[in-house]
Amino acid sequence: MARKNTTARAANRRSNTMWGGRYKLGPAEIMEKINASIGFDRRLYAQDIAGSVAHCDMLVAQGILTAKDGRDIKRGLAQVKAEIESGKFKFSTKLEDIHFNVEQRLTDIIGPAGGRLHTARSRNDQIALDVRMWVRDTIDKVEEMLRDLQAALIDRADEYSATIMPGFTHLQTAQPITFGHHLMAYVEMFGRDRSRFADCRARLNESPLGAAALAGSPHPIDPRKTAKALGFDRPMANSLDAVSDRDYVIEFIAAASTTAVHLSRLSEEIVIWCSAPFRFISLSDAFTTGSSIMPQKRNPDAAELTRAKVGRIVGAFVALCTILKGLPLTYGKDMQEDKEPLFDAADSLELGIAAMTGMIRDLKANPERMRAVASADYSVATDLADWLVRKVGLPFRQAHHVTGRLVGIAADKGVDLDKLSLEEMQAVEPKIDRSVFRVLTVEASVNARKSLGGTAPANVARAVAEARRRFLGRAGER
Ligand code: ARG
Repeated sequence: MARKNTTARAANRRSNTMWGGRYKLGPAEIMEKINASIGFDRRLYAQDIAGSVAHCDMLVAQGILTAKDGRDIKRGLAQVKAEIESGKFKFSTKLEDIHFNVEQRLTDIIGPAGGRLHTARSRNDQIALDVRMWVRDTIDKVEEMLRDLQAALIDRADEYSATIMPGFTHLQTAQPITFGHHLMAYVEMFGRDRSRFADCRARLNESPLGAAALAGSPHPIDPRKTAKALGFDRPMANSLDAVSDRDYVIEFIAAASTTAVHLSRLSEEIVIWCSAPFRFISLSDAFTTGSSIMPQKRNPDAAELTRAKVGRIVGAFVALCTILKGLPLTYGKDMQEDKEPLFDAADSLELGIAAMTGMIRDLKANPERMRAVASADYSVATDLADWLVRKVGLPFRQAHHVTGRLVGIAADKGVDLDKLSLEEMQAVEPKIDRSVFRVLTVEASVNARKSLGGTAPANVARAVAEARRRFLGRAGER
């Protein structure tokens, strides 16, 4: 009964104007609903129209379309674009997707010549092109945003190049480091992220246009022309691959996932550093929120949300791989399901990068507190062991043992290592002399770590200058 009703209702519909030639009935309501992608793929309008303009120019140049039709089509496309951008365009679910919505409106504006634009093209190479260009545009935006984030980190590292904080392993105080050095670690991480996006961009930069439905076209088309016009390095070599490849979506989201992991780690540090037991940094009113019940609270919500965005982004990666696995060549409608995860991953990533850049510029360090924690918990014990190696000539393993005994004595007394008397030290190792006290401060500890990539303030200052040159392209900063 229910089924009959659905069929009857479908019969009242007109068959599809784009492909309904052999159809007597329109689609069931639920068919229209599951099939339509216009709700989200309207975001591809700019790429779709740019691709159509290049395709139209090529068709004219090859003598497949007349110059007049070409002019009309381009005028119509320009109007469609203006209507979309001014919010006047009426998107229709009946027309399924962005391609049909644009083509139908084009035909309304210029008449039957609008129907000639789709010569030697299919929605299969068209969507492959649109998504490719959208990912390429998004990579360019993300690259720029990551550069801004690096610039913020580098500026703050410069400011805090000699600010001492505890370095952790296992989140236990390990050795004193500089805050600038810590921030510069993230500059390296985001630098690798940028190169991952650049790799993805280089690999995706081939045009699928000309593959048509899957097998190529019998028209005398020139895919090199469209590829060049749209900024691609070359057309794709295999038409089947051209319409079915979504590697670039996977690669983009994989690169986004790695970046999101980095953002999440830094977010976690910010949350920890802001907490009352740490108080290493504070964020201003601009980057915290209050509690509805506890008037004293300042919550680092932006850091928490950035920490969490990774869930959606890695989720998108899993979604994409799962959608594409087992898909036979070539195009399958399954591929329409790539867009929402892709868009969501890109939006989440951009939001996370922007929020992080804001927080990095906003945060204020509390150097007294950082130094106090860095000085506690025998953080300079390794410096004492290293001193025993260099000055007394002990094998490191033995120096480690002697230092361990001295730490034990100090801990029993409840004092720092430099508060032990020379006699107390000599009771454990007779060759220790007064000069040992020079290495038992956090300043001496960080200043001594001048090895390549080490935490010494002088190193950080140099790393800052180098990073400006390597990542920000500012010459003369050597
Ligand atoms: N909306 C479709 C997608 O996103 C466009 C391609 C449709 N092609 C087709 N033969 N139905 O994948």
